[in-house]
Amino acid sequence: MDNNFDLIVIGGGPGGYVCAIRAAQLGLKTACIESRGALGGTCLNVGCIPSKSLLNLSENYQKAKKDFNQQGIEIDGIKLNIEKMMSNKNKSIQVLTKGVEFLFKKNKVKYFKGKGVLFSKNDVVVYETENKRSNVKAKNIVIATGSEPTSIPGIKIDEKQIVSSTGALSFDKVPKKLAVIGGGYIGLEMGSVWSRLGSEVTVLEYLDQITPGMDREVSNEFQKILMKQGIKFQMGSKVEDLSQKGNLVSIKFTNVKNSKKETIEVDKVLVSVGRKPYTEGLNLTKVGVKKDSKGRIEVNNKLQTSVNNIYAIGDVIKGPMLAHKAEEEGIAAAEIIAGQAGHVNYDVIPGVVYTSPEVATVGKTEEQLKELNINYKVGKFPFLANSRAKVNNETDGFVKILANSKTDKVLGVHIIGPHCGDMIAEMALAMEFGASSEDIARTCHAHPTHTEAIKEAALAVDKRPIHF
Ligand code: NAI
Repeated sequence: MDNNFDLIVIGGGPGGYVCAIRAAQLGLKTACIESRGALGGTCLNVGCIPSKSLLNLSENYQKAKKDFNQQGIEIDGIKLNIEKMMSNKNKSIQVLTKGVEFLFKKNKVKYFKGKGVLFSKNDVVVYETENKRSNVKAKNIVIATGSEPTSIPGIKIDEKQIVSSTGALSFDKVPKKLAVIGGGYIGLEMGSVWSRLGSEVTVLEYLDQITPGMDREVSNEFQKILMKQGIKFQMGSKVEDLSQKGNLVSIKFTNVKNSKKETIEVDKVLVSVGRKPYTEGLNLTKVGVKKDSKGRIEVNNKLQTSVNNIYAIGDVIKGPMLAHKAEEEGIAAAEIIAGQAGHVNYDVIPGVVYTSPEVATVGKTEEQLKELNINYKVGKFPFLANSRAKVNNETDGFVKILANSKTDKVLGVHIIGPHCGDMIAEMALAMEFGASSEDIARTCHAHPTHTEAIKEAALAVDKRPIHF
């Protein structure tokens, strides 16, 4: 195979590898360059997938430990084996990354293992090792290099005591006390994992709300539920300094409301204050690819950068840093390059926090609708009144549907409750089809399922729920 391609994708994460496969399906001679040594990016190797493994296993452990006895399943001597748990997680990752490699072979995508560096608008150098490099040429290039964790000025992540999500996915024992800086997606998912496994978890959040940007009513309920589960929250806390003293870390923070200074000592600290685009060493400036003030690659609505044959997708551009958003953009970019009309509907990108219960949202929040001066109706239904949730003892949470007051078109759906990470797909589909709340209310939902709570919330938009 010669090294001239129709498309080179730099980055083999969910955005990049999906883009490469779609491009190959469309007949483009495609290559993908990945430096990690495994495909799947942050998501598959040190993000979404390993965290979901630990979330599932830690939930099983907690259920077995705390709930089973009361439910008539009596087991003695439940023991936690972290090593086995981690190896279970690692095995799943290996299988899945190999799976992506298989998909590349199946679709004839050439996989370069190494770091891709732009040399000109059509030339990329792949550094396989320091001394071994190859030159590849392409008509089009897609940059899909993802993101990396940010930290707080002056705080260095060592991935041992002060960790990012990567370190928090691989602790070799349960920390007695774990501080989580930042009450966002990563902090709350990983905080939940270690809290279930026995850590005393304290979340230090700068704002007065966890998961900022989420519908306020849902995030308030979310915090209450997590507190009930034993996670402590220090809201309005600005972390200023961490100092390591032997096996402990001392955290100094200031209460932003009353300026009171406080200190806590913990065994481990997870810094989860956001992520930033990863474009280091790509040589963007040399080839003329522009970035915005936040370090994101600027793209137009065709995902083209300031250099017209170079595209960018996923976490390196604006928008939510979510694997499925990157995948949609990967497909759109491949289709646009192949001359088709690829596009992404940014109004319908679901977001899920995989805690227990899960939190899932799609579309506008109440706060956004108020800001946009859009009149809306609200329909809510609690899982307490859903028969399936009741028999499963999973009654925390509710479904909230926001619909346009005049047209009844669904504008946003926000759910906190059991299995809502899967249930939100129905709402995304409904919104893609421009559904009204009446459409959802008149759709037959199987009984007894958690999805009936969605139907009831839709009925509640018109003030006619049956079971509440
Ligand atoms: P995030 O942006 O979700 O949350 C960061 C939190 O840290 C915010 O609440 C912010 O107010 C707080 N914060 C910032 N500086 C602080 C300081 N100095 N002291 C205290 N708090 C401070 O970021 P996170 O959780 O690190 O996640 C990064 C990205 O990864 C997000 O874009 C997220 O969407 C994505 N992600 C998505 C997941 C999912 O879809 N389930 C799971 C994990 C990550």
